[in-house]
Amino acid sequence: MGRTKGKTTTVTGLSWGDEGKGKIVDWLVANHGYWVVVRHNGANNAGHSVYLDNRLVHLHFIPSGVVHPDGVGLMGAGELLEPFAFWNERLYLERVAGVDPTGRIFLDPRMNLIMLFHRVEDMAREVARKRGTDEEIGTTAKGVGPAYADLAQRPGIRLHHLLGDPTEFEETFRAKLLEKLNLFFGVLGLTHEELRTILQQLRQKDQESCHEILETGAIDPRVFDYSRYYTSSTGLDPSAMIHDYLEIAEQIRALDCVRDIGLEVNRRRVAGENILFEGGQGSLLDVVYGTYPHVTSSHPIAGSACTGTPIGPTFIEEVIGVAKLFTTRVGGGPFPVEDEGFGEQIRGMSGQPGAEYGTTTGRPRRCGPPDTVITRTTALWSSITQLAGTKLDFLDPLEEIKICTQYELGGEKLDLMPMDPKDLDRVEPVFETLPGWQEDTSQARRWSDLPINARRFCDRYLELCQPPIEGADEITWHSIGVGPNREQLIVF
Ligand code: IMP
Ligand code: MG
Repeated sequence: MGRTKGKTTTVTGLSWGDEGKGKIVDWLVANHGYWVVVRHNGANNAGHSVYLDNRLVHLHFIPSGVVHPDGVGLMGAGELLEPFAFWNERLYLERVAGVDPTGRIFLDPRMNLIMLFHRVEDMAREVARKRGTDEEIGTTAKGVGPAYADLAQRPGIRLHHLLGDPTEFEETFRAKLLEKLNLFFGVLGLTHEELRTILQQLRQKDQESCHEILETGAIDPRVFDYSRYYTSSTGLDPSAMIHDYLEIAEQIRALDCVRDIGLEVNRRRVAGENILFEGGQGSLLDVVYGTYPHVTSSHPIAGSACTGTPIGPTFIEEVIGVAKLFTTRVGGGPFPVEDEGFGEQIRGMSGQPGAEYGTTTGRPRRCGPPDTVITRTTALWSSITQLAGTKLDFLDPLEEIKICTQYELGGEKLDLMPMDPKDLDRVEPVFETLPGWQEDTSQARRWSDLPINARRFCDRYLELCQPPIEGADEITWHSIGVGPNREQLIVF
């Protein structure tokens, strides 16, 4: 008899990110034997938080399954890599989280790189948008948009360039930097003063996001002093930058972590290992289907597990859609059910760290009541088979709960999001009000532990998420989250 193949599942966020995918992935790895976790889109703009021994661990690039002692993290070519930030995240795992990732993280050599000039460009474009008439996107300033643009524009710089012949890398880098400096000063109208401010801001951001590693003394704080790359003649000095890139290349090479990720995934599955694909961001930030242009530059929908690994669509058996049982968004752009009062209630009740502040940027998230037009629409985009509802406990104190069932646009009732995102600014959400339960749900571990009104709310929520097509396959519950810890989950 042949060996049994491993199971394959993808986890996809159903709104604007921060649905709590990290916790679902962590739970699957810990309880379900999914040892191999694959990231296939985005970069360190993502933030996945998981609790490890009652401590919150924040990951950005590295698949969150790695916090489990047997977890393996594969970073597919659809994901971008910022080599220094990757290195620091590994250090964070080792020195701060107490996780030894040695031999458990692998990178595809075809990953495109985010270079420092992409980060500068990200910010310079926001400065230019602000100066002009365009609204800012409110990016995470990680350089994601510009790096994906270079990938498509060709040629971008990829990991195999960094790890290959240094002379060739140097040539490519110099040419690219020159192009970028022309863009900054010539096209975007950046001044030298503004460039220096951006370098200063990047230093501050990196120091903040790395403060826990800095405290361990594992990083020399001077690495974040990007003003060392500044020169008054051209703006940025290629030699100093190339020197540092070649140094990090050496360090990454020493990890012996570069693999063909698609092949790795296929081999491991045949060997009986379960494979989990972990989407970064959420469906409404999808570069094509999301609330364009207020989106990220990759595909968070489930299909990107295919192109970003790569594997074909028949490789994936289950699609778990993760939806927070209310709605949040960081950054700019339309948000039909936004309700500041609701946000204050949600943030106010929970003294938990990460209570609706962005993992990556620390910005307070914009909040609103549950919007099932969104989940119904995005569930369809990824053909989800199971729904993981998160953060039910946040709704505990509410006397009653408004739930958006449809949108109204020009006198017409809509079951699905309008395809022109501008219409999202004009829609009127249609609400239905359900009684709250005003009881603590955080100790519930089974469906029957939940107060009756909480069950009624969940039943109604799931019913409203079903595809608006008669005869379509029914989506069932995967789980309902009632608190941040691994065990605070009702699994069906
Ligand atoms: P970028 O991905 O940095 O280009 O930012 C584009 C938009 O996506 C901004 O509104 C960001 O706030 C948002 N965004 C990017 N990554 C995440 C995420 O992981 N969670 C939530 N929002 C995100
Ligand atoms: Mg997040």
